[in-house]
Amino acid sequence: MSLSESGKLPPAIIGIVTVSDRASRGEYEDRGGPAVVEYLNDVLTTPWQSIRKIISDDQSLIEQTIVDMADNHDCCFIVTTGGTGPAVRDVTPEATESVCEKMMPGFGEQMRAVSLAKVATAILSRQTAGIRGSTLVVNLPGSPKAIAECLDAVFAAVPYCVDLIGGPYLETNPSRIVAFRPKK
Ligand code: MTE
Repeated sequence: MSLSESGKLPPAIIGIVTVSDRASRGEYEDRGGPAVVEYLNDVLTTPWQSIRKIISDDQSLIEQTIVDMADNHDCCFIVTTGGTGPAVRDVTPEATESVCEKMMPGFGEQMRAVSLAKVATAILSRQTAGIRGSTLVVNLPGSPKAIAECLDAVFAAVPYCVDLIGGPYLETNPSRIVAFRPKK
């Protein structure tokens, strides 16, 4: 990553995508996106800025949104919330898979395993993760209370994953999450 004119590293850019037909029509307030922002503010000590979108459960729109955030806005990390379940309109995992070069199935496995200890319906989420270029994309369920539960389950591995794909060096507040990086 290059230095900005002030000599400081530019903030890491993180995409936050709420996928919900009803929230995108304004029929209810998006609570998932703000919960992701709150989580990242709490956990990341690296300066970061968000790009946020609220979109319908439309596969091609989800794909375009991920591609735009990854390729044109230099997001190192994209978090989606919603559209991971079994209903006909739930297609966020399919959209993620179709725009990622590599899938990272361990993220979904771990988030489901941790969530299942709290709620039996966690098994209904097909949430997954993948890599597009220098961007890690992680799906979360739409329930606002799922956001911290799921991110807590995997976040220790996020900074090193972002290192490995050429993204910025993300640092965390160790009282919340200790980022795991193998010793050199
Ligand atoms: N995971 C956690 N941690 N907490 C939850 O409340 N809700 C489940 C599941 N995973 C839930 C969860 C439910 S009820 C559904 S239907 C699926 O996520 C899919 O949710 P989505 O379609 O909003 O993505």
